[in-house]
Amino acid sequence: MTEKLMIQIEDLYRTFHQGNNEIPVLKEINLNIHEGECIVLKGVSGSGKTTLLSLIAGLDKPSAGKVLIEGEPISKLPDLFASELRAKKIGMIFQHFNLFEHLSVNENVTIPLIPSGLKMNEIHDKVDEALKVANISHKKETLTSRLSGGEKQRTAIARALVADPNIILCDEPTANLDRDNSLLFIDILGKLHSMGKTIVIATHDPLFDSLSFENTIVPMVDGKIV
Ligand SMILES: Nc1ncnc2c1ncn2[C@@H]1O[C@H](COP(=O)(O)OP(=O)(O)O)[C@@H](O)[C@H]1O
Ligand SMILES: [Mg+2]
Repeated sequence: MTEKLMIQIEDLYRTFHQGNNEIPVLKEINLNIHEGECIVLKGVSGSGKTTLLSLIAGLDKPSAGKVLIEGEPISKLPDLFASELRAKKIGMIFQHFNLFEHLSVNENVTIPLIPSGLKMNEIHDKVDEALKVANISHKKETLTSRLSGGEKQRTAIARALVADPNIILCDEPTANLDRDNSLLFIDILGKLHSMGKTIVIATHDPLFDSLSFENTIVPMVDGKIV
C-alpha cells in the first residue's frame, strides 16, 4: 500500500424515493482507500453494498456528499465524463458475470479495448496478458455460454483487467461459484493485489474473512460503515 489516495468517499448519502416514501439506503459514509489496498465491504443482503459500489463507479449519483477517484469527483461529473473516467480507471466484476454469452472469451475480453484506439497487435497482446493473469487462456476461443461458472468469472476478471485499470470493484463475485472456484477466484485476486491494484469487494462470503493477503474488512450495517 502507498500513501496515494485512490478512492475518497466523503459524507455520502443515497436516498431512494418511492411514491411519497423516502428510503435512506446509505447514510454518512466516509472512507479513504489508498493505492494497493484491498477492502472487503462486509454486510448482509440489503445493507447497501451494491449501492455503494455503484456510486464509487459513477454508475449512480449520490443524494449528498461525493466520491473522488484519484482526486477527480466522479459523482459530480456528467454521465459521459463519469463513463470515460470509469473506463480508464475502474474494472468491475459482478455476481452474475455480465458477459456476452453469444461471444467468445476472446471477444468478451477485447470489448473494453475497442474505444482505446490501440493497434490490433497491441490489443491482441493486452488480451493475451489479461487471459493469462486470469488463468483462462486455454478457453480463449470458446463460446462464453459453454463455460462453467468458474470459467465465466475468470473471463470477467480478464475483462476487468484488460484496460489496465488501477481499481477493481467486485460485487458478490463468489456468490455463484462453488468452493473450489471461489478459492481459485481469491487466488487471482491475490495476484491482482500483488500487482498493486486497489481492490474493493462487496461480499457476505465467509471465505473472505481469512484472506492470505493483506486486506481490511469494513463492516456495513443498515447503510452505514460501522
Ligand atoms: N433503485 C432503488 N429504489 C429503491 N430502493 C432501492 C433501490 N436500490 C436499492 N434499494 C434498496 O436499498 C437497500 C440496499 O440495497 P443494496 O445496495 O442492493 O444492498 P446489498 O448489495 O448490500 O444487498 C435495499 O433495501 C434495497 O431494497
Ligand atoms: Mg448487492
